[in-house]
Amino acid sequence: MVTIAFDVYGTLIDTQGVVSELRALAGDRADVFAQTWREKQLEYTFRRGLMRLYETFAVCTRQALDYTCAHYELSFSPEQKNQLLEAYKTLPAFDDVEDGLTMLHGKGHRLFAFSNGTASAVDTVLVNAGIRDFFDSVISVDDLKTFKPSPDVYHHFLQQAEAEPSEAWLISSNPFDVIGAANVGMLTAWLRRSEKAIFDPWGIEPTLTIESLSELFEKIDE
Ligand code: 2OP
Repeated sequence: MVTIAFDVYGTLIDTQGVVSELRALAGDRADVFAQTWREKQLEYTFRRGLMRLYETFAVCTRQALDYTCAHYELSFSPEQKNQLLEAYKTLPAFDDVEDGLTMLHGKGHRLFAFSNGTASAVDTVLVNAGIRDFFDSVISVDDLKTFKPSPDVYHHFLQQAEAEPSEAWLISSNPFDVIGAANVGMLTAWLRRSEKAIFDPWGIEPTLTIESLSELFEKIDE
């Protein structure tokens, strides 16, 4: 039995699920719009963490949406923006997630959702995606008013989960998150959600690189 922390947005939950909502508003620029929005959302978390000027992940997401509208010179109404932000609450899980979590849970591993999102926002998205019940609990960086990849948030996870770094896994599609967890001595699996995804050339490698959660089940040690 091991302790496994799952990153949420981009790992369990497909943030590209917003693209269908965006197509009606941004037309053929929906894909690049969603990509810029996601990159700016994460950039805002990094900057706010460094500045110690915390706002919730939802505020970073909303402000990144405002930036992206200005960037592409698209003026969405407040209602259209709220519709997009609401879509963040009902994003789908990736296809491999339910089966993968079922197998891991069935093996008796302790599963946690560990996210930049607030506990309530993450609870909502996991419930709506039908996967909340796999997790012992949702652990959020919001408790510390900072963001991944601060070492503090991974130490917070370990303390909340009552786990030692050497027997706790972090599973994420986000290389910055994987490197952040490796930085405190956790075991890590990089979930490569796209063949175009590149792992940062920092010389800090994940314990495992996997293409799906079912692969994790096969490779994760007892
Ligand atoms: C998460 O913490 C980084 O968005 C990612 O869920």
